[in-house]
Amino acid sequence: MEKLVIAGGVPLRGEVNISGSKNATLPLMAASILAAGKSVLRSVPELRDVLTMGSLLKKMGAGFSLRDSVCEMDTSGLNEFTAPYELVKTMRASVLVLGPLVARYGQARVSLPGGCAIGARPINLHLMGLERMGAEIELAEGYVKARAKRLNGASIYFDVPTVTGTENLMMAAALAKGTTVLENCAREPEVVDLADALIRMGARIEGAGGSLIEIEGVDELRPYGHDVIPDRIEAATFAIASAITGGDILIKTSRPDFMDAIMIKLRETRVDAVKTPGGLRVKANGNSGRPASVNITTMPYPGFPTDVQAQFMALMCVANGTSIINETVFENRFMHVPELQRMGAQIVLQGGMASVTGVEKLKGAQVMATDLRASASLVLAALAAEGESEIHRLYHLDRGYERMEEKLRRLGAQIRRVPEQRG
Ligand code: UD1
Repeated sequence: MEKLVIAGGVPLRGEVNISGSKNATLPLMAASILAAGKSVLRSVPELRDVLTMGSLLKKMGAGFSLRDSVCEMDTSGLNEFTAPYELVKTMRASVLVLGPLVARYGQARVSLPGGCAIGARPINLHLMGLERMGAEIELAEGYVKARAKRLNGASIYFDVPTVTGTENLMMAAALAKGTTVLENCAREPEVVDLADALIRMGARIEGAGGSLIEIEGVDELRPYGHDVIPDRIEAATFAIASAITGGDILIKTSRPDFMDAIMIKLRETRVDAVKTPGGLRVKANGNSGRPASVNITTMPYPGFPTDVQAQFMALMCVANGTSIINETVFENRFMHVPELQRMGAQIVLQGGMASVTGVEKLKGAQVMATDLRASASLVLAALAAEGESEIHRLYHLDRGYERMEEKLRRLGAQIRRVPEQRG
């Protein structure tokens, strides 16, 4: 086990390259199951979640390699249709293999994800959709078993927009017989990226990025070659790193347009956040002191992402005034609060709402990462804090951020990864 040791108080300056999106990569990897042969994905981040999805593909008999950000998946030999508990419990997104397996092989056995740190996160909408397409679904011994001779097109309405649910059913519908209409879909850029790759594979899909997606099923798909979109959550995290340390960072991303809600909110804090030809420039207002407090409400895209709530809260911990943070997507996504409080943050929690009153300075402390985005918020708080912080349980951070400490170090951060002493 390793920990991060951060000496705070250094304004970060310079340029940072944004990696490929984790949340786009995982469904794209699952999509390789839909066709026999070798699919090639480029700009893939080297992350633990990506390796977990690779292990899952290998366990099912497929080939998988990841080298220099290029991921190759060869599904010619795929002959196992199970996603076991050991893998699904470490990464819920493993459930993304369900739709492709049933669509292509007529069967799948996928462990139920169970609870996770940020809430119950059910998959009932994934299952409802597959059932409407004619799959027989059985729940036994903690597993979902799905069977279908061939899926049929159907009209499906999501009670709430679900990102992986939309992706799962879009992949299933691509090989179904007839037309599927998905309503109240997630509109995230990662859904659009998946649709683009599926279309390249020969799928007939219209409307991805809107709330109604229409898919006309085809008999066969071919493997794809595809470039993953940049990670908007990583980009947002670096934008907040600049704001919280009083820095000036050029965030190099080809898709600054994915980040409008975050940029608007950063500007409301009086940080100078602008689009540039190469990406985004986020510059704190050097002499005017602390950022202004602003309220945020998390929402499905294009609203403010729940995946940036924890990081934005870290910024509000040092803002001038009180900010109300309303988490509407997940019911228990405030695991970072007690850890931020250890660093001197003044936060009052009530249900899905946090009231954050900014303090002049956070203080370095030993803190524990509880989930992926919570870990990022602790790193940000430590970068801004007075004195030294230690962040434990780094494996959460490694699930979703590629070489984070190396990127931060290049921007001037005093940050080291060191082995935990055995207790
Ligand atoms: C994805 C992202 C995750 C992000 C989340 C919300 C991936 C791999 N992960 O997760 O980083 O935080 O979107 O932007 O892309 N729900 C149901 N029933 C279902 C499915 C979802 O009630 O069958 C609810 C959830 O409990 C939650 C809401 O829908 O309240 C949105 O969740 P969802 O979009 O499904 O999240 P994920 O796809 O798991």
